[in-house]
Amino acid sequence: MTKLPPDLNPQNLPQHVAVIMDGNGRWANSRGLPRIAGHRQGARTLKELLRCCKDWGIKALTAYAFSTENWRRPVDEVDFLMLLFERLLHRELSEMHQEGVRISFIGDLSVLPKSLQTEMERSVKETLNNQAIHFTVAVNYGSRNEITKACRQVAELVQRGELSAEEVNESVVEKQLYTADTPEPDLLIRTSGEMRLSNFLLWQMAYTEMYFTDILWPDFDTEAFYQALLSYQKRDRRFGQVKASLSA
Ligand code: IPE
Ligand code: IPE
Ligand code: MG
Repeated sequence: MTKLPPDLNPQNLPQHVAVIMDGNGRWANSRGLPRIAGHRQGARTLKELLRCCKDWGIKALTAYAFSTENWRRPVDEVDFLMLLFERLLHRELSEMHQEGVRISFIGDLSVLPKSLQTEMERSVKETLNNQAIHFTVAVNYGSRNEITKACRQVAELVQRGELSAEEVNESVVEKQLYTADTPEPDLLIRTSGEMRLSNFLLWQMAYTEMYFTDILWPDFDTEAFYQALLSYQKRDRRFGQVKASLSA
């Protein structure tokens, strides 16, 4: 178990960290390896980060693994990624379960390979009551798709007369999102120098602190995470107020 570095304040850690794991392909290219080697290494990085979050008392980690736009990649790469997700889940489930990890998935899972869907359902069910950390993986996830789906569901409620148009408020919309039962991320980390959200958690990150680093995802180690947390602890989260409130 790794201890929280002494200069990090345990009272001011993000409760929920979200990561856009970017740069696997460039990491592999720079070593003369095929892109898939970067994805493999990236999976190891994610495993380490999950353990580190758990050890340091961070209660939720959400990782962007595959976007609704990633289907535009070469079919070989997409196939490899789907297979990698399935193998990883199969291989890592019992250890994660033992460590008290609760696993969830967000995104439109219905179009994923059936065998992957089965592994996903199994891991969600088996780990449902675990409390150590909530680990969410976004697969075939896109915010615009999520918000559109939420609008459609709200419209159906109104159409059926279960809700009036006046009753549609933020909390009604939120309940229709994939993330309905999770608090919003406090900190977003994106690796590889890109400074964009690429359709990730647009609604949920309205007040999330953003941290961008040039480090490529496979190289994002505990030291790099520590740097991100140091930066987070220097922020003044005002939520629209003049001064940061002590309770925020
Ligand atoms: C992130 O790394 C992983 C996925 C999007 C699945 P990339 O594959 O995007 O790596 P780069 O950005 O091409 O280096
Ligand atoms: C974002 O990375 C999606 C994931 C990390 C899964 P991309 O590499 O797909 O993003 P863009 O295309 O550079 O915006
Ligand atoms: Mg990329």
